[in-house]
Amino acid sequence: MGPSVLSIPSAPLPGRARGTSANRAARRAVRPRPPQRPVDFDLNALRQRDRYKLLTALVVPRPIAWVTTRNADASVNAAPFSFFNVMGAAPPVVAFGPDDGPGIKDTPHNIRKTGRFVVNLVDEAVAAAMHASSGAYPRGVSEIDALGLALADMPWGDVPRIADAPAALACREHSTILIGRTRVVLGVVEGLYVRDGLVDAERFHVDQDALHAVGRLGGGRYTRTDAFELGPRPSAAEVGERRPDPG
Ligand SMILES: Cc1cc2nc3c(=O)[nH]c(=O)nc-3n(C[C@H](O)[C@H](O)[C@H](O)COP(=O)(O)O)c2cc1C
Repeated sequence: MGPSVLSIPSAPLPGRARGTSANRAARRAVRPRPPQRPVDFDLNALRQRDRYKLLTALVVPRPIAWVTTRNADASVNAAPFSFFNVMGAAPPVVAFGPDDGPGIKDTPHNIRKTGRFVVNLVDEAVAAAMHASSGAYPRGVSEIDALGLALADMPWGDVPRIADAPAALACREHSTILIGRTRVVLGVVEGLYVRDGLVDAERFHVDQDALHAVGRLGGGRYTRTDAFELGPRPSAAEVGERRPDPG
């Protein structure tokens, strides 16, 4: 641990008698902080809850998959998952992680039965509904019905999207990996809906500023998106030739 950057003044603070409570408080305020706790964490030695707190507060912001699936009675289940991302585009693959707490959650249960799901993306307008749908509703109870959300059909599969979500990915389950309690569902994206006005369909250009996407932080907090640019990426000439990079 390196030395503290704060130092204690050697003389009493000016204008104060030594030993008064005001003086003690002032001295406390400039006392060096105790050394910070270790910064190397052996994750396997931590409680699951503490691992979760660290990881979810550091790997931020995370996009949110608001996943719709079909229940056994054909009603529609909806739940958010922020262990989520798109993993590649050739073919287009998404992954999300519904952990097996006391038991398998409804979303992966339904996917196991039907092999299909829709990832609805989340903007500020639907954030509160997304959050509300994360309640532990009993199996078979439709969050869509409970919250009065509107659905819209997609041309791929029979799982509908959430009508007010700005974009939705129709997915077919590719495989599911179980590592202890950590479940990772991999899906191949077959079709994509984008709300009118957000995309230039000729140039495949999505208006990032109009999207108002929401992400998840640690401690149950959310973040808005605020785009900025860093200019063009270093060119092949600048860094030396290598194979073509489509990204
Ligand atoms: C923004 C947000 C993100 C979440 N991300 C996850 C996640 O990645 N994995 C998970 O298991 N639960 C996550 N949850 C909790 C689930 O949404 C919650 O357990 C839900 O009840 C699961 O619903 P289901 O049983 O209908 O699938 C998240 C909750 C919120 C509000």
